[in-house]
Amino acid sequence: MNERLVVSESELARQRDFAERVRALPERPRSFHIVTMGCQMNERDSETIAGMLVEMGLRPESVREKADLILYNTCCVRENAENRALGNVIWLKELKKERPELLICVGGCMAQEAGMAERMKSMYPFIDLVFGTHNMHRLPEYLLRVLESRRPVVEVLTSDGVIAEGLPQRRVSPFSAFVNIMYGCNNFCSYCIVPYVRGRERSRKPEAVLEECKRLVDQGVKEITLLGQNVNAFGRDTHGDGVSFAALLEKVAALPGLKRLRYVTPHPKDMGPEDVAAFANIPQLCPRLHLPLQAGSDAVLKRMGRKYDSARYLELVASLRDARPDIALSTDLIVGFPGETEEDFAATLELMRASDFMSSFSFCYSDRPGTRASRFLDKIAPDVQQDRLLRLQALQEELSQRWLDARVGQECEVLLENASRREATDDDSLQSWQGRDIYGALVHVPLPAGDHTGRLVNARIVEAKKHSLVAEATGQPW
Ligand code: SAH
Ligand code: SF4
Ligand code: F3S
Repeated sequence: MNERLVVSESELARQRDFAERVRALPERPRSFHIVTMGCQMNERDSETIAGMLVEMGLRPESVREKADLILYNTCCVRENAENRALGNVIWLKELKKERPELLICVGGCMAQEAGMAERMKSMYPFIDLVFGTHNMHRLPEYLLRVLESRRPVVEVLTSDGVIAEGLPQRRVSPFSAFVNIMYGCNNFCSYCIVPYVRGRERSRKPEAVLEECKRLVDQGVKEITLLGQNVNAFGRDTHGDGVSFAALLEKVAALPGLKRLRYVTPHPKDMGPEDVAAFANIPQLCPRLHLPLQAGSDAVLKRMGRKYDSARYLELVASLRDARPDIALSTDLIVGFPGETEEDFAATLELMRASDFMSSFSFCYSDRPGTRASRFLDKIAPDVQQDRLLRLQALQEELSQRWLDARVGQECEVLLENASRREATDDDSLQSWQGRDIYGALVHVPLPAGDHTGRLVNARIVEAKKHSLVAEATGQPW
């Protein structure tokens, strides 16, 4: 790996020193609240930001309005994500009038967007700190500067991102964890802003990934989800150690104590035979794959720059089902891409049926500044987009329901998350818990009183609801 990409030990030590100095300030914020607006990578970043804030002596505050520091970790993948972020920030202006000592910080992908930092600086002067995705590890330095100068700090680096190892982390779940394996994306799909705000692909060293996973498993984590914008490209930018994505999966899965391994997001063009075979060969790898399709029409896929066609996608689906017949597939879909005809849209519906997705995220195409597609001329009217979105979602409801219905009668293993509202039990000694099965489906299961968080339980599915399953335990939680 290019060592220049890794933040040096001396820089990390410098930041720890800044954190100490923040902690020592007599007048500093005592509590923080983070609002996470984006994808899993954004969520993982929030855990790091929270870790750094704790290191600076702040404690988490679950009620946003009560916190001394409110931090928005923003997303800009679609225009509505951006509007939501800006809307929230404007609302904070009022709160700040009541509590002038309140600190407002904005980080994440929207802050990294070209021109956005300057825009925020001039339009929203009440924001105390704006920082981007490439310099998140310097939060202690920036916060100290804000507190000492009492003036807004706007620091967004335009240079490509780096990798900071060993930053503190405050995890949301004690039993399930996200682990970044790579950052950035080189694909430049024509509609997508992510490569512009997350920089070029850069893999972590396999040893660093393994070390983090091992530490998590030692702490009692049962499920790990490996993260990257294009996980199959893992290792292609590293030199010398030759560990492929499939090899990394095997190494992580072999950690004693790890029960479930997942990853997100793969790219269909980069899913190789060894990635497919992993579903047959690695027992800990859950039989669930989120494989973004985006569109079913070859003409649209071409204009999207996705570098696969519908035949290749279906071939991949078939080989995945060969490797692991029960695999559950989910996807991302964009409707109303520039130039999308009714026939193109029909091809998307057809591919959804053929792939039999258990679930999907679907979005109306939205122009993102700087992307190629934003300059395409034949934009689709919002009402046509909306109509297609509703039709697509109706089909997905049908497919999802069929998938859930087919599970009734099956045995399953549920990783328990939390007690849910009482459901499907007439027995007062039982309480309904909810968790996820290996396919990632939400399962409700009545259990004897107790704290079952993070435990596994074997169960039999007795009912399919609209978006979840109901099961009966066949053993004790363990
Ligand atoms: N790296 C992942 C996900 C990236 S963003 C991947 O390659 O699939 C998550 C999803 O947002 C994308 O899969 C896509 O469906 C959607 N998306 C990205 N840009 C969009 C845009 N401009 N308009 C609408 N949806 C978009
Ligand atoms: Fe965006 Fe495409 Fe990269 Fe995914 S693969 S992050 S959709 S550019
Ligand atoms: Fe994720 Fe949104 Fe950034 S989807 S990578 S938080 S633009």
